[in-house]
Amino acid sequence: MSTPINKTWYKEMSVYQIWPRSFCDGNGDGIGDLEGVISKLDYIKSLNVDAIWFSPLYTSPNADYGYDIADYRNISEDYGTLEQFKTLVDEAHRRGIKIIMDLVVNHTSDEHEWFKQGRADKNSPYHDYYYWRKGKKPGGKKPPNNWKSLFEGGAWEYDADLDEYYLHIFAKKQPDLNMSNPAVREEVKNIMRFWLDLGVDGFREDVITYIAKREGLPNGFPIPAAVGMEHYSGLPKVHDYLTEFRKEVLEPYGAFTVGEAPMMTPKKAKKYIEEGGNQVLDLMFHFQHMGADCIFTDWIVTPFSLKRMKKAFSRWQRGMYGTAWNALYLENHDHPRIINRYGDPLYRVESGKMLAAMYICQCGTPFVYQGQEIGMLNTERGSFDDFKDVMAHNMRKTFRSFGFSEKRILSIANKATRENARTPVQWSAAKNAGFTAGAPWVGVNPNYTEINVEAAENDADSLLHFYRALLKFRKENELVIYGDYKEHFKSSRNLYVYERNYKGRRLLVICSFTDKPVKLTAPKGFDLQKGELVFQNYKDVTAQGNTIVTKPYETRVYLFN
Ligand code: GLC
Ligand code: CA
Repeated sequence: MSTPINKTWYKEMSVYQIWPRSFCDGNGDGIGDLEGVISKLDYIKSLNVDAIWFSPLYTSPNADYGYDIADYRNISEDYGTLEQFKTLVDEAHRRGIKIIMDLVVNHTSDEHEWFKQGRADKNSPYHDYYYWRKGKKPGGKKPPNNWKSLFEGGAWEYDADLDEYYLHIFAKKQPDLNMSNPAVREEVKNIMRFWLDLGVDGFREDVITYIAKREGLPNGFPIPAAVGMEHYSGLPKVHDYLTEFRKEVLEPYGAFTVGEAPMMTPKKAKKYIEEGGNQVLDLMFHFQHMGADCIFTDWIVTPFSLKRMKKAFSRWQRGMYGTAWNALYLENHDHPRIINRYGDPLYRVESGKMLAAMYICQCGTPFVYQGQEIGMLNTERGSFDDFKDVMAHNMRKTFRSFGFSEKRILSIANKATRENARTPVQWSAAKNAGFTAGAPWVGVNPNYTEINVEAAENDADSLLHFYRALLKFRKENELVIYGDYKEHFKSSRNLYVYERNYKGRRLLVICSFTDKPVKLTAPKGFDLQKGELVFQNYKDVTAQGNTIVTKPYETRVYLFN
């Protein structure tokens, strides 16, 4: 029936993601930090996760909150010191928690020494660490090609002293590294070694499929946005560079890697994550299931289509089974909160539980983002002055150019901005949600008086306890980790139903994505009366024979031994 699966630790683990600025402030300056993280390690352990992925902790001027790195070998002053980081690694390891660092090597900050030196002197070896090019006309009148930045206007920034442009796929303060330069790749390998020697267990590699650019940097197809992408996304060289990193560093250290890969499909993914000789990453974050309520970006909104979401999940579940391994996620620091998106704040806990069961019971390594486990929601910002993210301000300009009214743009932005995921974690009903004793760097969601960790701890039916139980169940049942996957009722617009099978045991996962009652009869071969209802989000639910009429956002997980 199913292909034998190689069992590995990273397939059995689950991961908690921390976006450090908003996690927990230990020293009262309003910014989350390592002291805060250390104080919450027991909490993290209590979630039954096995690893923490840290969004960047490195020194950064914060043009993109840490994704613009000025020093790869240091901890940002905002977050603490290298010494504290070592303590954190020890304390985490003592609790059986692994540490995964974000590795951002598509670009650096323009305040990185390499960039500063390469900019100051054309003859410096650092000049060729980046893509410096002459314009098409002298005097900075026309950039080297027509590529657009994903964050800020054109992809080229002119330097009058050099009479050259540098490439930035993201913000102006994020110049792209020239990975075709072997010296840059040596730097990357040494940075990896530096952190691995400090004891970290692996890396999440930021936009890793962008690290190779088409030779000659030709013009891109003139579409409205992301011009040039076909020349910097998923080029064959990416595989070569990643092979070098894996063979020379990651493999010898036994380190884990998950690569972020926009625009990825299962077929293309195999090239990177298929187990065997050519594998270069352990897992990959693709975006396909995140496109169920938008097109290309969260900012171009369409009505949520469960069918689209199911199709994406199923394609990856089927596509990877037995030969590669999925990364499972719904939230991270780049997307709005999922209860607003796919659930319903009116059924916050119910729909939160349904979403949790829906993805954690699939085959793959689950990632849970800070605050997701207590059902944090999106926040409203009153005006654009309250937006901190470079991307939001860029999108505002783009929508303006399309003729949208300010009011409409603000309303779109409030829903679409990734800042929704970046408000402080709500620890308690105390001032500032217990996040800081000082003034928080960004507004706390006013709903913290109700939605917070402390309240969830004290409520046996909370989403928090549900996540804990689900992650524990997964860890204790190979069926959930290694079982195969089969979808039912594919054409349903409201129900997501699938089964998992492993060594004669079966799991049936039923999820309703609507507040309306839906009648369903269990798929052939399942007798609900014989199954053990291991997870549910309503009390005292029963089935009439094999038929259920769902409650709003109901989920049921049945185990058949
Ligand atoms: C990745 C990160 C995102 C960042 C971007 C540029 O997509 O997840 O937060 O802004 O890369 O580094
Ligand atoms: Ca602090």
